[in-house]
This record gives sequence, C-alpha cells and structure tokens, in this order.
Amino acid sequence: MFSLQAFIVVAYGLGSLSGSKAQTILSDPGVAGPPVEIVHLYYDEWPTGIAVSASGRKFSNYPPALDPTDLKYTVAELNSNNTETPYPSLEINSPPGGRINYTTTPPTGANYQNYFIGVQSVVVDPADRLWVLDTGRAATPNGTMVPAAYGGPKLVGINLQDNSIIKTIIFSPTAAPSTSYLNDIRFDLTPSLTPSGQGVAYITDSSSEGTNALITVDLGSGAAWRHLVNIPAVEATEGFVPTIWGQPVYSNGTTGQPISNVNFGADGIALSADGATLYFSTTGGRRLYAVPTARLRDDGPNSEVLARASQVYLTGKGLTDGMESDSQDNIYMGNIEDNSISIYTPATGLLSTFVRDPRFSWTDTMSVAADGYLYFTENQLWRGAAYNGGVDKRVKPYVLFRVKLPGNGTKVTQPAP
Ligand SMILES: *[C@@H]1O[C@H](CO)[C@@H](O)[C@H](O)[C@H]1NC(C)=O
Ligand SMILES: *[C@@H]1O[C@H](CO)[C@@H](O)[C@H](O)[C@H]1NC(C)=O
Ligand SMILES: *[C@@H]1O[C@H](CO)[C@@H](O)[C@H](O)[C@H]1NC(C)=O
Ligand SMILES: *[C@@H]1O[C@H](CO)[C@@H](O)[C@H](O)[C@H]1NC(C)=O
Ligand SMILES: *[C@@H]1O[C@H](CO)[C@@H](O)[C@H](O)[C@H]1NC(C)=O
Repeated sequence: MFSLQAFIVVAYGLGSLSGSKAQTILSDPGVAGPPVEIVHLYYDEWPTGIAVSASGRKFSNYPPALDPTDLKYTVAELNSNNTETPYPSLEINSPPGGRINYTTTPPTGANYQNYFIGVQSVVVDPADRLWVLDTGRAATPNGTMVPAAYGGPKLVGINLQDNSIIKTIIFSPTAAPSTSYLNDIRFDLTPSLTPSGQGVAYITDSSSEGTNALITVDLGSGAAWRHLVNIPAVEATEGFVPTIWGQPVYSNGTTGQPISNVNFGADGIALSADGATLYFSTTGGRRLYAVPTARLRDDGPNSEVLARASQVYLTGKGLTDGMESDSQDNIYMGNIEDNSISIYTPATGLLSTFVRDPRFSWTDTMSVAADGYLYFTENQLWRGAAYNGGVDKRVKPYVLFRVKLPGNGTKVTQPAP
C-alpha cells in the first residue's frame, strides 16, 4: 500500500568515553502511512463505535456494560464542536428507572423493548440507514456486568432522513442468551438472500462468560440463529496477555487476583465487497478467520456442522478489536500492540501496515465512509480500571481519527430493499 518513506537515525554522543565515536543506531520510526486527521474529541462519555452517514453525519455509542459511568446516553450524534447530542432522542436513551432492574436477584438489564439499555455498536448500512445494536446489558457501579433480560438485546433501525425508528428486532434468548454480548454487526441488503427480501446482518457475540458465536439475522422476518458456537475461532485464547505501550495487560478476575486474559471472544467483523465472505477475529487473540456467508445464512439441518467445516484460519495479525472493509476488498484491522492498522488483502493472502501512530491508544471501532476515509475511535480501553487493579488510568479526550483510504476505496452501497 505504501513504502516506508523514512527511517530515523539517532546519534548518541558518548563523549565521556574517551575515544568513542558518535554512533548511528537504527530505531523504530513509530509512525508510518498517510496523514492521520483528528475528527472529534470525546470529553464526556467513553465511546466504542463510530458510524458515518452518506452526508457526513457521525454517530457513536457508549456501552454502560464496559464503563458504568456511561449513564446519560448510550447513543449520540457527534457535533462539530467536540460535544455529543443523545440520539435519536434523550428519551429513548433514558429507560425509566434506569438501565438495571434491581428487583431481580441478581440484578438484570432492564427489559424495555422501546429504550436503549446498553449499546455496543452503531453501523450505517449500505442503504444509509443507521442500526443500533443493543446488548441489553449494563454494569453496576462496582463494575459488575448484569445479565440481559428479554427485550434488552435488540437491533433498532433508524431512517436518517427523519430520525424515525423503522424497525426493531427483539432477539430471543436462544439467539441472544442473557450472558451474550452482541458486539458488532455488518449488513448485506441483497434481496435474493432470504425469502423476506430485506437482506441479512451478521453479528458477533463476544461474551466473556457465556458462549461465543456468529449470529445471522433476517432483517425482514427478524429470525436469528447462531453458528460457530464456542469453537476456538470465536473464543478468547487461554492465557492471552497483550502488551500495549510497553505494558503487559492483565485483568482482575472475580477473586481480585490478576488473571492472564483480555477475554473477549468474537468481536471484529468485516464483509467482503461481494458479500460472500465474512472475516472475523477475537479480541482475546491475534488470529484472523473467514467463513463463507452462505454457511452462516443456512440454519437448516447440519448447518452448524457445515459452518464449522467451512471456517478457515487465514493468518496471524496481532491484537484487533473492530474491523472494516471497503469497495476494493481491503480488510482493515487494528494491530493494537503495534500502534497500527493493518490491511489484509484476500487476493494475495498477505498483511501490510496501513498507518501507524503513537497516539493510537486502542483502535476500537472502524467505519469506512462514502467520502473515501476510514474513521476509527481510539479509546484507551486497556487503561480502564478492569485492567489496572481497579485504578482508572484513562485520560480524556478519547479520539475519533480518519485516514484517506488507499486506491480510491470507499463504502460499499446498496439500494434499500
Ligand atoms: C456545540 O454544538 C451543539 C450543536 O450545535 C450546541 O447545541 C451546543 O450548544 C454547542 N456547545 C458549545 C459549548 O458551543
Ligand atoms: C424487572 O423484573 C421484574 C421481575 O422479573 C419484571 O416483572 C419487571 O418487568 C422488570 N422491569 C424492568 C424494567 O426490567
Ligand atoms: C457489585 O454489585 C452487585 C449489585 O449491587 C452485587 O450483587 C455484587 O455483590 C457486587 N460485587 C462486588 C465484588 O462488590
Ligand atoms: C488486579 O490486578 C493487578 C494487576 O493488573 C494487581 O496489581 C492488583 O493487585 C489486582 N487488584 C486486586 C484488587 O487484587
Ligand atoms: C483513482 O481515481 C483517479 C481519478 O479517477 C484515477 O486517476 C486513479 O487511477 C485511481 N487510482 C486507483 C489506484 O484506482
């Protein structure tokens, strides 16, 4: 994609050592690739997702399950002055009585079908509609994530012309169990894919304590089913310890002892430009996988056996959270331990470094937009209390960056079905 333009040499004067000559020592340049632009600074709540519409409107989500201070809103539109406005309204972001139902034992996520409980992803689909993926989960003030209740886990479609809700799909406990964590979603609106003609979406379940899987949802009928359930490709790797900014990252388990895992399962997801292949990765590991989407759409007899037999391990690639793809079939993924974003090229099977910058603090979620840019949030996730013995080391602002896509890449668009 680019050639490394320059390397930096550092001259160390060793004057006190008699007779030493100045040494030239090759060192890590730390930056690479095209210019990185700051688009938005988040000073209020802690964001994960980013979605950019055809006209350039920008939306983020703020998951209360991963940060109990994300309370005022869980979806917002970004204003040009580094502030955010709850979206599509403050009301839908404010469940009566709160996000958690304390009348159950243990407490559970509130069961409202018409309010957002805890949103982990916002995505603009190929027909320029915004979809909100609600996990139905939130955390108590001490950081304990409560299970979801039926009504919480859902997918809500919004018409960006008038900001009205056009579709709400409530997931059954079979598709989204109470311990599920609906993480990210990609859309294919091709009418011929299902009898409903409304297209499909593919979702990752990254649950740290339940089962991991890829979920397919028929956007017309609302039917949803799970595949690749708890196979190694979707599960966090036992004993996974990433190193970020030179620091090994442990989390604190229920015993309070440090434990060696960032234990999110299937998380990042990207669809090939032709919709035939879904790329996916866990955040508790460093491996890239792919599966033919036809195997995910099939929920007939033997479909799980066939799906398992068709998924493939493509390559090692470093630690990734969100993933993205563009019209040129470039697959973008963070390499968080390297402060970089990589491109996987299906045609060659190879990775290349796209962009690298020491300000990258945890590339959380990416969004390719119709303006030909890759947008991505950097949110310092690993500096949160859960990974630092209860001490929150994050420093605001969190950042939305963008970088121009290579080779005239842009967002894949489709007509609304
Ligand atoms: C920022 O922009 C929003 C939306 O235009 C506006 O409501 C708000 O008052 C502005 N805030 C400041 C501090 O200028
Ligand atoms: C809280 O839980 C109780 C018992 O299951 C249920 O009846 C009630 O509808 C729940 N309320 C909310 C807001 O989740
Ligand atoms: C955290 O809060 C929940 C809900 O109030 C409670 O059930 C749980 O015991 C608390 N956990 C710890 C470790 O204090
Ligand atoms: C949590 O883990 C850290 C290591 O990341 C450790 O230093 C700390 O003591 C642990 N906290 C508790 C409460 O045990
Ligand atoms: C990008 O588009 C420009 C203008 O249409 C064209 O000249 C150029 O060859 C394209 N580059 C690639 C890599 O497709």
